[in-house]
Amino acid sequence: MDISQLTYFVVVAKAGSFSQAAKTLAISQPSLSRHVQQLESELGVELLDRYHRPMTLTTAGHFFLAQIEPILLQLEQARELTQRFAQPHRNNHLTIGFVASVLYGLLPEIISTVKQRHPNLDIKLVEINSEQQMSALKSGDIDVGFGRFRHNDNFVQQIFLRHERFVVALPMAHPLASRPDDIGIAFKELLEDTLILYHRTPLPILQNPLFNGETDQLMYLFARHQLSPHLTTKVRDIQIALGLVAAGEGITLVPDSLKTVRTEQIHYHRLRHEDATTPIFMNVLAHQSNPYIDDLLQATYQVYEAKGITYSNQSLN
Ligand code: BEZ
Repeated sequence: MDISQLTYFVVVAKAGSFSQAAKTLAISQPSLSRHVQQLESELGVELLDRYHRPMTLTTAGHFFLAQIEPILLQLEQARELTQRFAQPHRNNHLTIGFVASVLYGLLPEIISTVKQRHPNLDIKLVEINSEQQMSALKSGDIDVGFGRFRHNDNFVQQIFLRHERFVVALPMAHPLASRPDDIGIAFKELLEDTLILYHRTPLPILQNPLFNGETDQLMYLFARHQLSPHLTTKVRDIQIALGLVAAGEGITLVPDSLKTVRTEQIHYHRLRHEDATTPIFMNVLAHQSNPYIDDLLQATYQVYEAKGITYSNQSLN
């Protein structure tokens, strides 16, 4: 079994016809047919139902296609990534992807720390969600990403940086906004408010019946305490959620670093629950060799040290 036989089979299976597939692959139809027959005889299994018009896959053919397609995709990715790995880095360029919620926090400070070390480094920032960072790393659209979700991708190394606490964002006129800061707010005190949800990526939640299959991150925080807010509304992103809070339309929970946003209209208050946190990850291609990425990681640790922030010290592969 070789890779071209497998590729030919996948193209025929997708096209549903030898003539169409032969055109796509730019080879003759008899030669294509011979390759697929060889594959079938090596497997000892018929993959195509040639008597059916239009041609279909046998049950074994469907099974084989489902097994082979992801392997070919992975091979293709490995080829592209290896070629990129062997290319010299674009000198003095670093493209950083980030989720909106990290921009308000330490990102500007981390970048200026890297710039102190490399004044000529040209840094480009791209807002991109955690999930899209995985493919943007592979396509070379970004060199490094900062996100908040754990992903399982063999090509990507995720460096866990730290847990950040959520705080509750309340309109200034909310009765809880006048509470002294040292008395935290409990989730059960927020059940009558409209909770504004803003996460676009669902949590890959464990099928735990205790959490009602909750896949929104904020709802999940309540569900872990066996609570469910009565009223919710969903918006596109965290900035809109904070805009609605400022307009008195409801409340929301945001990572602590956002508590500098719209402080004239929004009161941010500590939550009583210490487990109400959100992780921050640095995402990079596994085994990449761009020296600026390690500098960025060290600058992040340096900012944490200077601010006395607890973090998890990990190294790049
Ligand atoms: C942080 O808040 O920990 C953080 C923000 C942006 C990039 C890296 C870390």
